[in-house]
Amino acid sequence: MYENIKYEVKGNLGYLTINRPKALNALNTEVLSELADALKEIEADDAVKAVIVTGEGKAFVAGADIAQMSKLNAVEGRAMMQAGHKVMNTIDQMPKPFIAAVNGFALGGGCELAMACDIRIASSKAKFGQPEVGLGIIPGFCGTQRLSRLVGKGMAKYLIYSAEMINAEEAFRIGLVEKVVEPDALMEAAEKLANTIASKAPIAVAQAKIAINNGFDMDLKSASQLEVEATTVCFGSEDQKEGMAAFLEKRAPEWKNR
Ligand code: CAA
Repeated sequence: MYENIKYEVKGNLGYLTINRPKALNALNTEVLSELADALKEIEADDAVKAVIVTGEGKAFVAGADIAQMSKLNAVEGRAMMQAGHKVMNTIDQMPKPFIAAVNGFALGGGCELAMACDIRIASSKAKFGQPEVGLGIIPGFCGTQRLSRLVGKGMAKYLIYSAEMINAEEAFRIGLVEKVVEPDALMEAAEKLANTIASKAPIAVAQAKIAINNGFDMDLKSASQLEVEATTVCFGSEDQKEGMAAFLEKRAPEWKNR
């Protein structure tokens, strides 16, 4: 069982909750290790079609654990950052959709966790930022890379160099989050989106994620070839036959995930 996170499956959805509310869900090495284990569970479970990531209490995640990091030398710091990268990259590369339901502070490693997810829905009370330079480090869970890819280089530099905290509306304006809702409506909005995605052909959703995420860092020619390969996987699936037959027969499709 996990001590610092909660992982539950309800229906087709996985719920991954960072659960250290007294430390505003700060990511220490124990949380990272539990997240790595939960991600293995998620990957192995075909019944889980989409995952909602959120935080317990008033924060989403207020960053990597500063108390723990304050004692680390360069070798140890590097190891912790690599553990963070592993978690973020696993989310990014797993062919299942992850939705961040950002309920409060998403700072430093918290903003990086939200950015590793496929889609971010924020409570209107959420706050975002990369405060690391004020602590003598830089974003270390791939924030220098994912933030610039999401909001552009100039805005990423503005946020990272200034360490400024922004509210949910500003995060929406710059493209850091895809939707902002009232705090009480957050989980409902995340579940509605997750259920909508879960109702689509899982192979198609997985191939769309692979094509978008892997293609983003390629030149257009290679990325377009990647899309051809991804569509070929879809055309080779039973679910492509089912999806198109269901459309023509005016009925709901029954996905087999093969
Ligand atoms: N690490 C460890 N503990 C943290 C923490 C963090 N990132 N963020 C908050 N906490 C702890 C506080 O130390 C405090 O603990 P105590 O009750 O034992 O004193 C508790 O959580 C509650 O926090 P506050 O009293 O500070 O709550 P607040 O509402 O007054 O302020 C806040 C909230 C503005 C988010 C403030 O807590 C804050 O600035 N936190 C740090 C944010 C930060 O700098 N994050 C980046 C970390 S570096 C990083 O993430 C590196 C990376 O890229 C991987």
